[in-house]
Amino acid sequence: MRTRKLGYTDLELTAIGLGTWAIGGPWQFGWGPQDDNEAIRTILAAIDHGINWLDTAPIYGLGHSEELVGKALKQTKDKPLIATKCGLTWSGASQRIACLKKESIRQECHASLKRLGVDVIDLYQMHWPEPDEDIEHGWEEMARLADEGKVRYIGVSNFSVEQIKRVQRIHPVASLQPPYSMLHRDVEDELLGYCSQNDIGVVAYSPMQRGLLTGSFSHERLANLPPDDHRKKSPDFQEPNFSATLELVKQLRRIAERNDRTLAQLAISWVLRRSEVTAAIVGARRPDQIAETAPAADWRLADEDAEEIERLLKKRQEKTNGK
Ligand SMILES: NC(=O)c1ccc[n+]([C@@H]2O[C@H](COP(=O)([O-])OP(=O)(O)OC[C@H]3O[C@@H](n4cnc5c(N)ncnc54)[C@H](OP(=O)(O)O)[C@@H]3O)[C@@H](O)[C@H]2O)c1
Repeated sequence: MRTRKLGYTDLELTAIGLGTWAIGGPWQFGWGPQDDNEAIRTILAAIDHGINWLDTAPIYGLGHSEELVGKALKQTKDKPLIATKCGLTWSGASQRIACLKKESIRQECHASLKRLGVDVIDLYQMHWPEPDEDIEHGWEEMARLADEGKVRYIGVSNFSVEQIKRVQRIHPVASLQPPYSMLHRDVEDELLGYCSQNDIGVVAYSPMQRGLLTGSFSHERLANLPPDDHRKKSPDFQEPNFSATLELVKQLRRIAERNDRTLAQLAISWVLRRSEVTAAIVGARRPDQIAETAPAADWRLADEDAEEIERLLKKRQEKTNGK
């Protein structure tokens, strides 16, 4: 699988990284029931298919995603690079506490190292810029962890250009992790250009818009999602957005089929068409899903296909009034 250098770092990332949010199992933002053995098999399958890095976070399954990554690492000789995050913690029933205090970040880092069973985290990312007034404070502590060799590089997620500029003065930003898919393109306005000009890598999340762009959704599937699948509450899965996306997916299918590709692959290669994007973080819950999506890393979308997709996205936007 082809690799790209992450920003100014010496990390060579495969164009697809495996995202391990969904396989972390149930919590406030879980994806319904998930079998642990299947989760570990999925991580091992990703490595077998040539993926050389994994993205996780302590908050995914409240520590469980990192534990599963740790278990999978014990079962393979091909050690992937590990990206995890800090800044979201939990306590009892409160399952999302945004905290960037330095003591909390240090504690989180130690807990992540233990759960993952590694001596060093390759990429340590501030998960959300919350609370905004504490981002410099938290970043200083992340820089200290880098100086101490507990983490190799530090990056940010869900940041604006202004927020990146604020922390960049303190320590170089290795990467930005923003949402990016055919349905959410805000990153194109300013962030992609800024990152490229400043040698900041971009690892784009939810390229298949949480499964919506894979062709596996219908009104019936949506109605039957388990009650603890957070997607039920997401605006992308509400009307008029949901029906407009099903219509879009119908049109996208023609483009995928004439290329002998699947819809999931089309969604990922569309994200990777931008040279500013280092890699796409692709979620999977079963080995067959990542087996299907991994080949998208080496598919370069033709310009005429990208142009047709542009026209289809414009049509969808008109139907949803830009939502
Ligand atoms: N930094 C952040 O704030 C943030 C936020 C979101 C995500 N992320 C990261 O990005 C990763 C990827 O994003 P994501 O998981 O939200 O979305 P995604 O990659 O767009 O979608 C993943 C989901 O699509 C479905 N899927 C996967 N492969 C498929 C296939 N071949 N055919 C049909 N369906 C398939 C699976 O769900 P079903 O089978 O259940 O449909 C899977 O969980 C996360 O795991 C996480 O590491 C970070």
